[in-house]
Amino acid sequence: MKIALFAGDGIGPEIMEQARRVLDALNLPGIVVWEGDVGGAAYRRHGHPLPEETLQMARAADAILFGAVGDPECDNLERHLRPEQAILGLRSNLDLFANLRPATMYPGLEDMSALRPEIARQIDVLIVRELNGDVYFGEKAMRKLEDGRRQGYDFMSYAEDEVRRIAHVAFRAAQGRAEKGTGGKLCSVDKANVLETSQLWRDVVIETAAEYPEVELSHMYVDNAAMQLVKDPGQFDVVVTGNLFGDILSDQASMCVGSIGLLASAALGERQTEFGTFGLYEPIHGSAPDIAGKGLANPMAMILSLAMMLRHSLGREADADRIEAAVAKALQDGVLGGDLGGDAGTVEIGDAVLARL
Ligand code: NAI
Ligand code: MG
Repeated sequence: MKIALFAGDGIGPEIMEQARRVLDALNLPGIVVWEGDVGGAAYRRHGHPLPEETLQMARAADAILFGAVGDPECDNLERHLRPEQAILGLRSNLDLFANLRPATMYPGLEDMSALRPEIARQIDVLIVRELNGDVYFGEKAMRKLEDGRRQGYDFMSYAEDEVRRIAHVAFRAAQGRAEKGTGGKLCSVDKANVLETSQLWRDVVIETAAEYPEVELSHMYVDNAAMQLVKDPGQFDVVVTGNLFGDILSDQASMCVGSIGLLASAALGERQTEFGTFGLYEPIHGSAPDIAGKGLANPMAMILSLAMMLRHSLGREADADRIEAAVAKALQDGVLGGDLGGDAGTVEIGDAVLARL
């Protein structure tokens, strides 16, 4: 099993180190670990946030664990050289179009939620975000109009095959949860009252639904979904939505469960390896420059991303369960980082998870 670790910049290396300790502790047979440069660190060393050799390594791996990128010292570079291009480039070059972002309430953390505990307790949602289309990848420009006014421009589009493949991922996830008895509902979130991309999205989701009669499908406009997510998050099981809406709703969901430092994600494509589905795994948060280098970052989202990697790409479900249980136990025992109102540092949290593993 070839695993590529791309720590990135900001808090990336600190949290990756803790995930690496957990990975090493599992002592998996037949594992090869590579390390590659991405983001601001890669720009400094190679003049590009996603060097060719990193991309080659990514292509040759069975799974990728990604820290974070977003070095503010690179903010003034041209857009194609900015650190964020590393993650966008990996997602698009590797055709990782399906982003799974689970948000579940951990027992004992209800008081840390931005919501009232009795409401927060009900959260168990899987957000399925389309990752390779939408306004993020459309033509963009900063141009001058004839009268001299500046105009920014981003083109938003979805083709029906792009919608269909993410819809299938979401329906299969909802079906899986129905079979396990933990769910079975799919809510498709769009803005079909205003956007043509959303009208197509809704039409294709409805067409796809015919293949999944056991899944209960509903539709919601994104503005209402944002409201419902804080009003009554327990109503959601699986949510499927486009790239932009999914980005925003998943950060919002993170605060409902307590902290962005707890949310892991998987970016999957269609390629199968010997062990599972090829994918890239990363916390949903960014490089947190405000706390980088201080040993304050919560590595749990990173460690939980490792668990998702073991489950989806490496066929090691039992190891994934063990890691998730160790994190849940640490939280229950009150091992809380600053993001959760506690005072445990990055290494201390890593120690606590390892001890419970
Ligand atoms: P951010 O997610 O980096 O930080 C938002 C807030 O959450 C900050 O106050 C930060 O300290 C806190 N935070 C984030 N992760 C934490 C953790 N593990 N433990 C404790 N606190 C944590 O978002 P922000 O500030 O908007 O972006 C910073 C940079 O990261 C930007 O350059 C942005 O483009 C980039 N970014 C990169 C992503 C990626 O690598 N996939 C995703 C999102 C943003
Ligand atoms: Mg985001």
